[in-house]
Amino acid sequence: MVEQAIKPITTNQLSTIAPLSVPMELACVEAVAEACWPVGIAELSRVLGGGLIPGSLVLIGGEPGIGKSTLLLQTASQLAQNRGVVAYASGEETLHQIRIRAKRLGISGERLYLLAETNLESIIEHLERLKPCLVIVDSIQSVFLPEIESSSGAITQVRECTIRLMRWAKQMQTPVLITGHVTKEGAIAGPRILEHIVDTVLYFEGEFFSSYRLLRSVKNRFGSTNEVGIFEMKDKGLAEVDNPSQIFLAQRMEDSIGSVVTATLEGSRPLMVEVQALTSLTSFGLPRRTANGVDFGRLLLIAAVLTRRLGLKLSNQDIIINVTGGIQIKEPAADMAIALAIASSYKDKPVNHEMTAVGEVGLSGEIRTVPQLERRLSEAARLGFKKCLVPRSSMKNVHASGIEPIPVSTLREAVLLGLVSKAATTETDDME
Ligand code: TYD
Ligand code: MG
Repeated sequence: MVEQAIKPITTNQLSTIAPLSVPMELACVEAVAEACWPVGIAELSRVLGGGLIPGSLVLIGGEPGIGKSTLLLQTASQLAQNRGVVAYASGEETLHQIRIRAKRLGISGERLYLLAETNLESIIEHLERLKPCLVIVDSIQSVFLPEIESSSGAITQVRECTIRLMRWAKQMQTPVLITGHVTKEGAIAGPRILEHIVDTVLYFEGEFFSSYRLLRSVKNRFGSTNEVGIFEMKDKGLAEVDNPSQIFLAQRMEDSIGSVVTATLEGSRPLMVEVQALTSLTSFGLPRRTANGVDFGRLLLIAAVLTRRLGLKLSNQDIIINVTGGIQIKEPAADMAIALAIASSYKDKPVNHEMTAVGEVGLSGEIRTVPQLERRLSEAARLGFKKCLVPRSSMKNVHASGIEPIPVSTLREAVLLGLVSKAATTETDDME
């Protein structure tokens, strides 16, 4: 039996982050530029806004099994190699399990100290002795403060533990990374209730069938929230994807029917993705619409515009839309590509494979302007596209090089210019 003293701390004390302080005039506050250090994983640094800020508390949320622990272990190893001692407290896995994972990731583990401990007071005591340059707590739902009566994972525990870590991080000027699980429904005791406490919130997302993972920043006190990091889960851990467009287009067939490439923005980053559509005669009951990777409401709107403004008879057609690579397109700039893909499939004519399309579709069938067209065009040009259908109203802001912007004002015009007529396609088609 080992006696362990537990310091009595009242909940009242726990909830205060700032020490006793006096009001200070803003003009007199010294502005210290916070130096951030890169973490050795470029995609993570990018999302953090350049790197880790000393004293910051970063929450990484995501569904169980998405790869949070893997990412953090890789980060820990990078910093242990390049910076100093790293402490990794895990309440989820045993030391043995972490060792096996580290082996798989090819991590030697020098200067990386593991703590299989869930009592946050003891963790902090250890940290005071270790003096690490980075602390990782995996996960915040598995640790507890003994003074608080509820069990670990309960709202009060999770919140007080986060506040305790926040205070420690600020005191020691050491960055702390914590993970938190969210379920599909966004469980109550999950990271959502912590978002206002921590400095930075990153969400790790991905489709379960795809190996690609997006790391998105939803709150960042030290940088922009417009950034995404793209990773691929491989058998030796997470690999950075620095040329995502190329990967998402790799399996594209030339001049295939119902396939259009569009330039979508993930944060501030342009990404070329392929939108596919398949229309087929409804064999039974009401026509069905299926949207994978695009908003269902958007698909209904576009189908209605195609029916009413262009006279396509879609009312007896099932429509399936799919965005390849498991990407979710959240912006209306992909509308024109979706519409073209549907028209292409319906009319059984391909879209020129060197052409891409960017534009929002309005209810009158007009093509509306989209933000950051220039960025999208340069990404398209970089990947070898020669032409891009763009909203006419955006033309005056466009100075693209290496790609020819084709202005269109209506969806009707876009379909006329975008679809390759049968005679102009490959000759083999005609010979068949
Ligand atoms: P993990 O980091 O444990 O997820 P989280 O901490 O978010 O719950 O990742 C778990 C998944 O990642 C697991 O299903 C297996 C997969 N994986 C790989 O495919 N390759 C690897 O090298 C590792 C370590 C995990
Ligand atoms: Mg984990």
